[in-house]
Amino acid sequence: MLLAAGVEPGDKVITNGFTFAAVPSSITHAGASAVYVETAENYTICLVDLEKKIASSGARYFMISHMRGKVADMDEVKRICDNAGVVLLEDCAHSLGAGSQGKSLEHFLVRLWFVVVVVVIFFLFCS
Ligand SMILES: Cc1ncc(COP(=O)(O)O)c(C=O)c1O
Repeated sequence: MLLAAGVEPGDKVITNGFTFAAVPSSITHAGASAVYVETAENYTICLVDLEKKIASSGARYFMISHMRGKVADMDEVKRICDNAGVVLLEDCAHSLGAGSQGKSLEHFLVRLWFVVVVVVIFFLFCS
């Protein structure tokens, strides 16, 4: 995803401080380095620190993870990124069933994929 978005070796990618090894690992594998943003009291990303880190790092990419299904104010996140010319990438690994401002983060195909996996498992073990 990072390479497809245009991340190149030496780039900086902003991401959550509250994260999982797979996230900074993917940044490292893309040849970039991670810039971590503080966590708010509700476990979402701290938007004040996000603006500070965008300004101080000069990073052009921000990969947000909705850790444990905790979703930040994505309208505000998008506004901050758009104003700074930062490319917003979402890691939705923890987002099954999660939403923001009444809207589900799941894509229809993700739900369909989930249903297919459940049906296949059902037939494998119950037939
Ligand atoms: C936040 C997060 N992103 C991505 C992943 C997927 O990692 P990988 O592609 O290495 O399986 C995980 C796996 O647990 C995760 O917790």
